[in-house]
Amino acid sequence: MEKQRAQWGSKLGFILAAAGSAVGLGNIWKFPGKAFEGGGGAFLLLYLIIVPLIGMPAMLSELTIGRASQSNVVDAFGKLGHKKYTWVGWLSWLVAFLITCYYSHVGGWVLRYAVSYATQSRAVYADPLGYFYALLGFDPVSGATWLPVTALAFAAVFLAICAFIIIQGVQGGIEKFNKIGMPALFVMLLILLVRSVTLPGGMEGVRYMLSLDFSKLSFHTLLTALSQAFYSLSLGMAIMVTYGSYLPETEDMPKNTLLICVMDTLVAVIAGFIVVPAVFATLGPDGVGKGGGFAFVSLAGVFERMPGGVLFGMMFYLLLLFAALTSTISLIEGIVAFLTERLNWSRTPTTIGLCAVLFLIGCLYTCSQAAFPLHGVWFDFANGVTFPGFGDAMEFLTDRVMIPIAALGTCIFVGWSWTPEKAAEEIHRGGVRFGLLKLYSFLVRFVLPAAIAVIFAVSLFTGTTLS
Ligand code: PHE
Repeated sequence: MEKQRAQWGSKLGFILAAAGSAVGLGNIWKFPGKAFEGGGGAFLLLYLIIVPLIGMPAMLSELTIGRASQSNVVDAFGKLGHKKYTWVGWLSWLVAFLITCYYSHVGGWVLRYAVSYATQSRAVYADPLGYFYALLGFDPVSGATWLPVTALAFAAVFLAICAFIIIQGVQGGIEKFNKIGMPALFVMLLILLVRSVTLPGGMEGVRYMLSLDFSKLSFHTLLTALSQAFYSLSLGMAIMVTYGSYLPETEDMPKNTLLICVMDTLVAVIAGFIVVPAVFATLGPDGVGKGGGFAFVSLAGVFERMPGGVLFGMMFYLLLLFAALTSTISLIEGIVAFLTERLNWSRTPTTIGLCAVLFLIGCLYTCSQAAFPLHGVWFDFANGVTFPGFGDAMEFLTDRVMIPIAALGTCIFVGWSWTPEKAAEEIHRGGVRFGLLKLYSFLVRFVLPAAIAVIFAVSLFTGTTLS
């Protein structure tokens, strides 16, 4: 007898889990920096146009593929009668696998910092860069390196938490955790927002984020915003297909897509209004940055200068931790769904074994940051063959190549092979009304593939990172 597929227990549970996947490190440490670089309000406006036009149709497509096929991402295309697209499924699956290797390790560093602010904020403040490097196994003064045991141990704990939740199942684990984690995240976000904008000088940052300086917008900004939207909404990575496959037939997917995208964007925008004003008030506008270096190093200066900084610092890393946990869980679920369904492996040992493998590969990522000179190989037309650090090479491979190709394959599949009409049949099931079919169809067939192809071409030919 075939096993009954897991399903979400409630609509809210699904929406929170999908939003939990989308709301991740990308929203909180990448978005504010990008918005700042893109001129504040002008970038926000651009982003608010891109999400409904590009992000929403792409997400709706992935959810629809999932629900129609009732399958993991690898088998989904075949189940819908288009076996020749199975490579798209494999690619998405592989992206999820590779990203989880490093995302989970970064999650471990975040966990470390949440603890650090609670127990040794002075050490962080005294030498933010030295503290971060020490975590990664490197002393910038003497040049000594060592195995970054602490970072690895925290990554192991982080993955163990994810595994524990996933083992409890879709309803009993993932849904339950998100139902607590997401509201907690919103509360922390609001507290930090109030703290940040009420700092003396914070309003400067708010004004900047609302200013419409279009001179800072360029083609490059447009591409940055586009790729940020894809990453932030967890597209091209098996997640929304998998989460969509646990949806009951009667669910209104367009409405859910809207809600998920609104939540994700709201969190990103609020994070922008937390980070930028806080940095303006403490370090000045030059202090705004993005990515790990910014979040782990520069922000120490912000919290040190902020009244109640230790408490708010702890809360900030806790916020990051929840965001990272719910995203990593979705990634691992996307991988596990395939392994358990296709190979008939049972959930618990699969999850544990998988997390162990992810941890081990991720060790190379963490170790290559500073401790050991591990390198990868890279190619783009601007720089030819290069040998970036192993961790960077991994990120280039996923962000610049695999995600765009998987996303492109997915929208070409929906737009041209399976057809938007078939997708619409699925969307309409259970009597759901969807009035924007013509627009959706146009976007999926023409606008999305063009946008993704341009992102891909630019990173391949110019070698620039858009992330
Ligand atoms: N959307 C997440 C973020 O913004 C990243 C992520 C991508 C998570 C894909 C899961 C899957 O950080």
